[in-house]
Amino acid sequence: MANSFSILILILFILILFIHLLHNSHAQPSSLSKHFTQRVEQHDQPFLRSQDQTFSCGFYPVGTNAFSFSIWFTNSTNKTVVWTANRDSLVNGHGSEISFQHDGNLVLRDVNGSTVWSTSLISFPASTLSLLNNGNLVIISSSSTIWQSFDSPTDTLLPDQPLTKGIKVISAMVRGGISSGYYTLYFDNDNVLRLIYDGPVISSIYWPLSGLTVFEAGRTSYNSTRLAVLDRTGNFISSDGFSASASDLGPGIRRRLTVDYDGNLRMYSLNISDGTWEVTWQAMRQLCYVHGLCGENAVCEYLPGLMCSCLPGYEMNDPSNWNRGCRPTYNYSCNPTQSRFVEVPKVDFYGFDLWYSTGISFHDCKLLCLRNCTCTGFSYRLDGGGLCYPKGTLFNGYKTSNFNGSFYLRLPTNSNNSILDTISILNCTNSSSEISIGTSTMFHTGRNDPKWSYLFIFTAVLGALEILIIVAGWWYLFKGTDVPKSVEEGYKMISSQFRKFTYSELKEVTGKFKEEIGKGLSGVVYRGVLDDKRVVAVKKLSDVKQGEEEFWAEVSVIGRINHINLVRMFGFCSESKHRLLVYEHIENQSLDKHLFNNNMKLQWNDRFKIAFGTAKGLAYLHHECLEWIIHCDVKPENILLTRDFEPKIADFGLAKLSKRDGLGFNFSHMRGTMGYMAPEWALSLPVTSKVDVYSYGVVLLEMVSGCRVSGGLNDGNGRDLRSLRKEVKQVLASGDISSIMGLVDMRLQGQFDPEQAAAMLRVAVTCLEEDRNQRPTMDEVVKVLMAFEERKEYSSNSW
Ligand SMILES: *[C@@H]1O[C@H](CO)[C@@H](O)[C@H](O)[C@H]1NC(C)=O
Ligand SMILES: *[C@@H]1O[C@H](CO)[C@@H](O)[C@H](O)[C@H]1NC(C)=O
Ligand SMILES: *[C@@H]1O[C@H](CO)[C@@H](O)[C@H](O)[C@H]1NC(C)=O
Ligand SMILES: *[C@@H]1O[C@H](CO)[C@@H](O)[C@H](O)[C@H]1NC(C)=O
Ligand SMILES: *[C@@H]1O[C@H](CO)[C@@H](O)[C@H](O)[C@H]1NC(C)=O
Ligand SMILES: *[C@@H]1O[C@H](CO)[C@@H](O)[C@H](O)[C@H]1NC(C)=O
Ligand SMILES: *[C@@H]1O[C@H](CO)[C@@H](O)[C@H](O)[C@H]1NC(C)=O
Ligand SMILES: *[C@@H]1O[C@H](CO)[C@@H](O)[C@H](O)[C@H]1NC(C)=O
Ligand SMILES: *[C@@H]1O[C@H](CO)[C@@H](O)[C@H](O)[C@H]1NC(C)=O
Ligand SMILES: *[C@@H]1O[C@H](CO)[C@@H](O)[C@H](O)[C@H]1NC(C)=O
Ligand SMILES: *[C@@H]1O[C@H](CO)[C@@H](O)[C@H](O)[C@H]1NC(C)=O
Repeated sequence: MANSFSILILILFILILFIHLLHNSHAQPSSLSKHFTQRVEQHDQPFLRSQDQTFSCGFYPVGTNAFSFSIWFTNSTNKTVVWTANRDSLVNGHGSEISFQHDGNLVLRDVNGSTVWSTSLISFPASTLSLLNNGNLVIISSSSTIWQSFDSPTDTLLPDQPLTKGIKVISAMVRGGISSGYYTLYFDNDNVLRLIYDGPVISSIYWPLSGLTVFEAGRTSYNSTRLAVLDRTGNFISSDGFSASASDLGPGIRRRLTVDYDGNLRMYSLNISDGTWEVTWQAMRQLCYVHGLCGENAVCEYLPGLMCSCLPGYEMNDPSNWNRGCRPTYNYSCNPTQSRFVEVPKVDFYGFDLWYSTGISFHDCKLLCLRNCTCTGFSYRLDGGGLCYPKGTLFNGYKTSNFNGSFYLRLPTNSNNSILDTISILNCTNSSSEISIGTSTMFHTGRNDPKWSYLFIFTAVLGALEILIIVAGWWYLFKGTDVPKSVEEGYKMISSQFRKFTYSELKEVTGKFKEEIGKGLSGVVYRGVLDDKRVVAVKKLSDVKQGEEEFWAEVSVIGRINHINLVRMFGFCSESKHRLLVYEHIENQSLDKHLFNNNMKLQWNDRFKIAFGTAKGLAYLHHECLEWIIHCDVKPENILLTRDFEPKIADFGLAKLSKRDGLGFNFSHMRGTMGYMAPEWALSLPVTSKVDVYSYGVVLLEMVSGCRVSGGLNDGNGRDLRSLRKEVKQVLASGDISSIMGLVDMRLQGQFDPEQAAAMLRVAVTCLEEDRNQRPTMDEVVKVLMAFEERKEYSSNSW
């Protein structure tokens, strides 16, 4: 009896053991204590899975036939990898295998049998391999840990995973990639936790922010513990005094801290319900302060969304990779007599100063740079009586309106820009908007250019994340801006012409925002029809951060403005986060469409009419309104035309609405459009109506020449426009009116009024004075043009 009982027990025991083994080999065990091998062909099945199922490890498909041995979050979309054994030597998709050996080693072999990676331990026969619930892959022998993946992080730290002395967390090379890139989080020799760009040519630390001392950055170098760890509630604490917390602080959330491919250190929280990640903290709020992103001789700009561009006279080294920077398109000359400087406003380069001088004039700074062959340019700003930083290598370039100075790039005098000194610049019969002479790639927006498509993807990818954060931020901000009901009712209607709309009303008016008729920096414009059959343009502002009352105050000023050359505003909508403006609809598109499109020919009569009308509209804004309004963004895109080519200026007053302060970008103060912006924007002088006068001057030149003369300016290469202006001045001074012919749009085939053209050019030249006090007011411009408007009565418009 006892015998059969013990046999029963034995059978039961064997059965349990068998089931246990079966379980182990099929339903992804969390640990192994016996020899086990998995081939890469079985990659659908994880090698191990943590007990709570959060983490899996096994073969991870990196390319179509390339695999790594990795640990990932089981339930995140696209299986977010947190650790990889062989990030820089992938294995073949056929015949490779991972095995946990009798001697306690974990070994990864490629198809030809070569060991790609191994834990390389001396023999520990009776050991166990486990994937723990915190994502740590460990080998344990007689209850002590002899190896763990936490000791060799790749680009990610998990909660409880310590970053200690000698350990580096290195970014991936590309988004979603595995192989190591150039950005590293580590403890420096001075015990401070840092981020460094360690690229092929240079290396430089950018976090804590360059320029701050350890103390200023809130760190200390006295604690030599060198330990940083993310805890389970979302606090990241370092022994150098640094600490950061997740915005969703609290236990029970799956988090990771990753050095992203763009050099930013970000904390993410997993959304269990849909497997996506949300950024809950990041080290760099300004991506352009990450070093090396755009490479040598390039400038980083945050718009928002990251954008790299080459310096004027430079072109990309590798059109597919901004990290490789730009190279000059000319032969560098050291001879001072063959060098000149091109201003690149608001741009500075971090580091690589040859030396620096304070209290020095611009002229002396320039001379110092000219005399030294290693000097490729200098950064100059006026504070402190003049600060001069001559540079050798040009790395870590960034553009920010916060920088109260400019960079001056050394170029040979015979570089391509000198072509601008000849009249051919105005010959744009071939392609109307391409005058990118000598400036190759900077800020050029030719979307058909393949090397730009890469940039757009790059920008989009980086931008998407930022937008996500911004959108989230706005949501928070607008959530709480409920205006008391009484206030709303009181302001409901100011006149029958100008009123407040509800959002649902506008939704109906525009047929659920069906027909998009325009898109600008400030927002998208939709066509709509009001109840009384008036056709309107409804502009959805994308950029307003004001509360309802402030918004109302600004908009009501604009709403009261009524002038034939200004687009009429019929009303607005301000409801929770929605900010919309309702304008009269102007049917004949904007000036740029007529001017720069080869298929459209804008007659001389109409050009003059537009120039004159635009001047009148601006003069009204500057001098006659109740509250003077500076437009800040005068350009052909903002000059709309009626059927009979009467101009109507759009978007005035918007500059005041688009206050972006407080969101944390520093690129916020820049308004207006590159190429039309007056030089004082760069000098941080107070903005006066003279900025509009300058922009108007650019538009005038464009109307006469039919060319996008502002195009070449985008790169900050002020000389393009300057030399053009010089040339126009010379032609005018020569008194030979026939030579004006060469400056006027060829498409007119001589059908223009030379007196009017000369007047417009004369006005343009004075409007473009560097010194704003020398520029005329819009009133004066109107007076000058008026004289020629009347002239029209007597003269035929042919040459
Ligand atoms: C992962 O998702 C599966 C279903 O998709 C679910 O059954 C499981 O509980 C999830 N695991 C975790 C750890 O969230
Ligand atoms: C997952 O990958 C697919 C295809 O590569 C991609 O379209 C998708 O955006 C990714 N999802 C996330 C959350 O990264
Ligand atoms: C196995 O293949 C890899 C690359 O495919 C190669 O580098 C390595 O030398 C090969 N090893 C042997 C033993 O053939
Ligand atoms: C140094 O840092 C460690 C870890 O953060 C901390 O425990 C310790 O108290 C610090 N020592 C001093 C002297 O502050
Ligand atoms: C998680 O995702 C779901 C679906 O996208 C969403 O409804 C939910 O608000 C998200 N949760 C968090 C905490 O973001
Ligand atoms: C630069 O100099 C080299 C040799 O001196 C010459 O071959 C090349 O054409 C020059 N490049 C330019 C852009 O002038
Ligand atoms: C000027 O530009 C043309 C084409 O844009 C280029 O072929 C030429 O090498 C450039 N010359 C100099 C001196 O940079
Ligand atoms: C140029 O500047 C560097 C750095 O300050 C200096 O070492 C070098 O002597 C200077 N060369 C000349 C010719 O002045
Ligand atoms: C730039 O100038 C503005 C106004 O003159 C000033 O408020 C700001 O602090 C300056 N910025 C720097 C970095 O000096
Ligand atoms: C402009 O270019 C055309 C052909 O490209 C040429 O025939 C014409 O002479 C040029 N005009 C001037 C003013 O250079
Ligand atoms: C216009 O095109 C012709 C032929 O394609 C070319 O020779 C000429 O240089 C071009 N002119 C300008 C100003 O680009």
